Amino acid sequence: MTAETIILNPAQPAIHPAWVRVCHWINALAILVMIGSGWQIYDASPLFAFTFPRQIALGNWLAGALLWHFAAMWVLVINGIVYVTLGFATGRFRRKLLPIYPSQVIGDLKAALTFKLAHEDLSRYNAVQKVLYVAIILTGVVIVTSGLSIWKPVQFQEITAFYGGYDTARYVHFFAMAAIVAFLVVHVSLALIVPKSLRAMVTGR
Ligand code: HEM
Repeated sequence: MTAETIILNPAQPAIHPAWVRVCHWINALAILVMIGSGWQIYDASPLFAFTFPRQIALGNWLAGALLWHFAAMWVLVINGIVYVTLGFATGRFRRKLLPIYPSQVIGDLKAALTFKLAHEDLSRYNAVQKVLYVAIILTGVVIVTSGLSIWKPVQFQEITAFYGGYDTARYVHFFAMAAIVAFLVVHVSLALIVPKSLRAMVTGR
């Protein structure tokens, strides 16, 4: 059976089931709102010697940005819980993201950097994709929990203590954001280089 017959045959199971696609795009939207409003919040009390340009920050001023940040937070967290629960419950995480062998990661990374990585079978992630997806899901856990610990440091004092206190948790939250932005640059570039992967994340096939 050729790749085309698999893609065009509606009897074949979707590469990405509907719940993955719905969760993925809700997550993408929520993350963009969180990042844009997070930059505006950061600008009100910067951790480093730079601020984010107002043109790319969301919410106009601190109070406006906080409203965006807390609204998108609920969407991100509820959607994230649904995705992670279904990821484990359906066995998708085990099937798609595991196992990860270091030798395969090195081999696939070399192939990717020399543009020799095969993209025929979209139903299987290569080892580099597996690492990136597992890492970004874990980063999602870190950004949410560090966010909770600086939002309600008294109510969530165990989490704040786990991060080494309020000030350290702020740095953790910032660097998790930076990691997500770096992931997004690579992830979106790859999706555009292999447009059929983007189509599969929209239509499922
Ligand atoms: C906003 C622009 C985005 C685009 C265009 C995009 C595109 C895609 C595409 C095409 C795939 C399937 C690629 C493949 O077959 O490897 C995918 C999967 C994935 N993306 Fe994105 N993505 C975006 C944002 C995000 C964000 C913000 C995150 C997380 C922070 C994310 C996390 C993931 C994960 C974890 C998967 C694997 C899903 C699974 O198989 O369960 N994406 N994305």
